[in-house]
Amino acid sequence: MAPSVSISILVLALWVLCIFTHSTTMVVAAKSSALELEAKALLESGWWSSNYTTNGSSLSHCAWPEIICNDGGSVTWIQIYGVDLGDKFRKLNFSSFPNLEGLDLYNTGLQGSIPPEIGTLSKLTYLSLSMNNLTGNLPLSLTNLTQLEMFSIHNNLFSGEFPLLLANLTQLETFDISSNLFSGSIPKELGNLKNLYSLDLSNNTLTGPIPSTLSLLTGLFYLDLSSNEISGSIASEIRFLKHLEYLDLQQNKLTGPLPSFLWHLTNLTYLSLNSNQINGSIAAEIGNMKNLEKLYLNYNDIAGQIPITIGHLTNLRTLSLAWNQISGSIPAEIANCILLRNLTLSHNYLTGTISFDMSNLYLLVYLDLSYNNLSGFIPRTINHLTVLETLSLNWNQINGSIPTEIIDCQSLRHLSLSHNSLSGYIPFHISDLHFLNAIDLSHNNISGDIPFELGDSPSLELLDFSYNNLTGNIPNISISIKEINFSYNSLHGQIPNGYLNCSPYTFIGNKDLCGDIKGFPPCFPSFLNNNKSIVHLIKIVVPLSFFLVVLLVGFFSLSRRGDKKTKYESSETKNGDLFSIWNYDGKIAYEDIIEATKDFDISCCIGTGGYGSVYKAQLPSGKVVAIKKLHRLEAENPTFDKSFKNEIKMLAAIRHRNIVKLLGYCLHYRCMFLIYEYMERGSLFSVLSNDVEAVEFDWMKRMNVIKSIAHALCYMHHECVPAIVHRDITSNNILLNSKLEGFVSDFGMAKCLDPNSSNQTLVAGTYGYLAPELAYTMVVTEKCDVYSFGVVALEILTGRHPGELMTSFSTSQSVMLNEILDQRLPPPNRLVAKDVFLVAAISFACLHTKPKSRPTMKWVSQEFLSHKKPVTNPLHSVSLWQLRNQENYTIGESETQ
Ligand SMILES: *[C@@H]1O[C@H](CO)[C@@H](O)[C@H](O)[C@H]1NC(C)=O
Ligand SMILES: *[C@@H]1O[C@H](CO)[C@@H](O)[C@H](O)[C@H]1NC(C)=O
Ligand SMILES: *[C@@H]1O[C@H](CO)[C@@H](O)[C@H](O)[C@H]1NC(C)=O
Ligand SMILES: *[C@@H]1O[C@H](CO)[C@@H](O)[C@H](O)[C@H]1NC(C)=O
Ligand SMILES: *[C@@H]1O[C@H](CO)[C@@H](O)[C@H](O)[C@H]1NC(C)=O
Ligand SMILES: *[C@@H]1O[C@H](CO)[C@@H](O)[C@H](O)[C@H]1NC(C)=O
Ligand SMILES: *[C@@H]1O[C@H](CO)[C@@H](O)[C@H](O)[C@H]1NC(C)=O
Ligand SMILES: *[C@@H]1O[C@H](CO)[C@@H](O)[C@H](O)[C@H]1NC(C)=O
Ligand SMILES: *[C@@H]1O[C@H](CO)[C@@H](O)[C@H](O)[C@H]1NC(C)=O
Repeated sequence: MAPSVSISILVLALWVLCIFTHSTTMVVAAKSSALELEAKALLESGWWSSNYTTNGSSLSHCAWPEIICNDGGSVTWIQIYGVDLGDKFRKLNFSSFPNLEGLDLYNTGLQGSIPPEIGTLSKLTYLSLSMNNLTGNLPLSLTNLTQLEMFSIHNNLFSGEFPLLLANLTQLETFDISSNLFSGSIPKELGNLKNLYSLDLSNNTLTGPIPSTLSLLTGLFYLDLSSNEISGSIASEIRFLKHLEYLDLQQNKLTGPLPSFLWHLTNLTYLSLNSNQINGSIAAEIGNMKNLEKLYLNYNDIAGQIPITIGHLTNLRTLSLAWNQISGSIPAEIANCILLRNLTLSHNYLTGTISFDMSNLYLLVYLDLSYNNLSGFIPRTINHLTVLETLSLNWNQINGSIPTEIIDCQSLRHLSLSHNSLSGYIPFHISDLHFLNAIDLSHNNISGDIPFELGDSPSLELLDFSYNNLTGNIPNISISIKEINFSYNSLHGQIPNGYLNCSPYTFIGNKDLCGDIKGFPPCFPSFLNNNKSIVHLIKIVVPLSFFLVVLLVGFFSLSRRGDKKTKYESSETKNGDLFSIWNYDGKIAYEDIIEATKDFDISCCIGTGGYGSVYKAQLPSGKVVAIKKLHRLEAENPTFDKSFKNEIKMLAAIRHRNIVKLLGYCLHYRCMFLIYEYMERGSLFSVLSNDVEAVEFDWMKRMNVIKSIAHALCYMHHECVPAIVHRDITSNNILLNSKLEGFVSDFGMAKCLDPNSSNQTLVAGTYGYLAPELAYTMVVTEKCDVYSFGVVALEILTGRHPGELMTSFSTSQSVMLNEILDQRLPPPNRLVAKDVFLVAAISFACLHTKPKSRPTMKWVSQEFLSHKKPVTNPLHSVSLWQLRNQENYTIGESETQ
């Protein structure tokens, strides 16, 4: 009995064990077969070219750059860059991906409609199908994607009524269906999406009013309903959207008065109501809008005056009120908006004089006051507008003469002063405005001669001086101006040959012109017919020959003196006292430099900068160095002299592997130069501007350069005593060696921050890289360099100066990080993408308007050094707007690795 019992117990135990092990292998088998199904589905989708599929391991897809898997090896993200998928959307077996959380097929050439099977991706939180050619209605099965937080299908060809089915996806935070063909009205059910913070319905053909349920979306930061056919008044419900920072309602059919509740949405930085039929006036409460950067009310029926409280908008960069019925004068308080870059008030009924203080508004790039009834003079303080590119004062009643100070507006491209009552002369030096592209002075009462040098202006394309009282001759033109008009003046003499292709209407209405142009009498060929001309000739020839003689005599005596001088100098070098060449190893001698540069011959010159020229020189030892030589004339200028000595002082004191090394210098009033390490690839700017070199300068190298600059600046700010502020960090002052490694150079502006001396100084640096606070304070801190660093870092990411990207909010929610990256390079791979993200996030932090809110270089440098890389979403899914509004650098916990 007993043995049989024990045997049966044993059998039972074995059986149990057997069952147990069997069931575990079943689980493992099920799991791995699910993974294999994923792999199979990926391979069969045809989305990947065959060279991906040769790897023997069945799970190799987790290593593909387009795929992210979780720890269990199951696919959680698919993000495809710049591949043409065409009609292969439905070839993916969606039911094989139970763990998919993100599907990003931005700009992949998709065609056809969305396959309904997409509804099986029940864990999906992120879906982007933007920038494709998808058509048809959205499939009903999208309602199954209840976890969806981000839905973006902008720039497709979807049509049909507003996709109401999406109103059930209550987890949605970002909803972007812009630039499609959706029609119908915006349903009130939109109010269900309580978690929305960004809503973009722009550029469809939506009709009807703004639904009142919009007031329920109290988390909205970003709202864009522009370019639709939305009618009715601006719903008062909008006043509940307290968090709004971006509101765009332009190009609709909105009517009714401009509501003053808008001026209580004080977090708005961008507001556009352009091209509607809004009337009423701008209430004084607009003064609340301390954060507003861009205000567009163009093309409406707004009347009344511009309130003086406009002066409270100290963050305003763009003010556009054109094509309205605004009256009264331009309030002088507008000069308090010191960050203004674009002031457009044209096509209104403004009166009075231009009395605001232009010296405050020296960041203005665009000033358009045309088509008003302004009178008085053009203020002389216009000379402060040194970055102004467009000045339009046409069609007013401005009188007086054109102030000669206008020649300080060195960036001017478009000057339009026509249809006024200007008198006086054309400023003689107007031809010094080298960028001038269009100049229209027609329909005034300007007299005197046309400045002759104007004919040599290199960029001039349009010139209209018609309907004035100009006298004298027409200047010859050496370039082909596209449009030119001298008609109805009192010009005389020969029409120069350069104009023979012009139509006679160019010159009509000038009584005393002659030449080979139809309708004008021929000029008499010879001065011999005319006694006056002979006298004239003698008047010219006699003094000219006298002048030539004087010149020759002068030349001979000078060249002799020159001989003497060189001898004298070279004897001095031998002596070695006067030329105090300093160098680190004593191997560089003055004569070597003179020999290597062929006495600073032009053929060795590799660049010319603010203070002098840079030469390349090979020393007898074979070492190649760069030599920066101050021009002799400039050496006598105390400013340059000072900056030169400053540079020596700074560079002699610092040593860092990413700061260009000073190898030696020569300081003598007749010859000043600095000897540096030679940087084979020149400036960062030149590499970025060359399409071939920019491609060679790949993402990895770019990241390294950014980090190097950060480390160098950290060293200057935090390890030097006293701290050194560079003050002129620009892409021109970052040099690259043969391996495209970055080095900080040009310390001409650098300054020590001495705890005992005042940190106040004259503003120095380069426009476009200057921290904004320098516009109103003169206090230099390290934070100015931090700002410039941010600009340069962004410049490296985008491949050119970031311009508007830095400050403006106009770059909308829908501009994603990957869109601003330098398109000449292939998108960064997943490894570098993390660095790119970190750099972008840090750059925007560095560009903070408030210096206090910018990070220190120490922090930046450490952030780059720390191995703990942030977890990021794919670059497609990070918008600039998010980057800018971010406190941490870790977003998107949704990625499960
Ligand atoms: C094949 O896939 C494995 C596993 O992901 C990976 O480690 C290996 O580098 C891949 N080999 C090739 C040739 O791509
Ligand atoms: C898709 O995958 C599922 C399993 O995940 C399978 O049952 C189905 O047959 C597949 N469909 C096609 C068309 O291959
Ligand atoms: C959409 O289709 C048109 C014409 O077929 C093509 O030119 C265009 O490049 C496509 N757009 C995208 C984003 O694929
Ligand atoms: C509006 O959408 C159309 C396609 O529907 C697109 O071609 C166009 O560029 C969009 N306009 C803007 C301003 O986005
Ligand atoms: C407005 O912006 C500030 C600073 O960004 C923020 O602290 C505040 O909470 C915002 N106010 C609202 C109502 O969103
Ligand atoms: C300034 O604003 C006007 C009107 O909004 C616009 O037409 C113009 O292009 C802008 N100028 C610049 C330089 O941005
Ligand atoms: C044009 O200028 C001349 C003098 O240069 C003057 O005599 C004449 O009155 C002016 N004509 C007009 C219309 O102002
Ligand atoms: C100048 O700036 C440095 C560094 O920011 C600071 O330590 C010093 O106290 C400042 N000096 C004055 C006089 O403010
Ligand atoms: C930022 O990071 C800190 C700690 O690193 C964390 O406590 C905080 O919640 C984060 N804030 C956000 C907005 O992610």
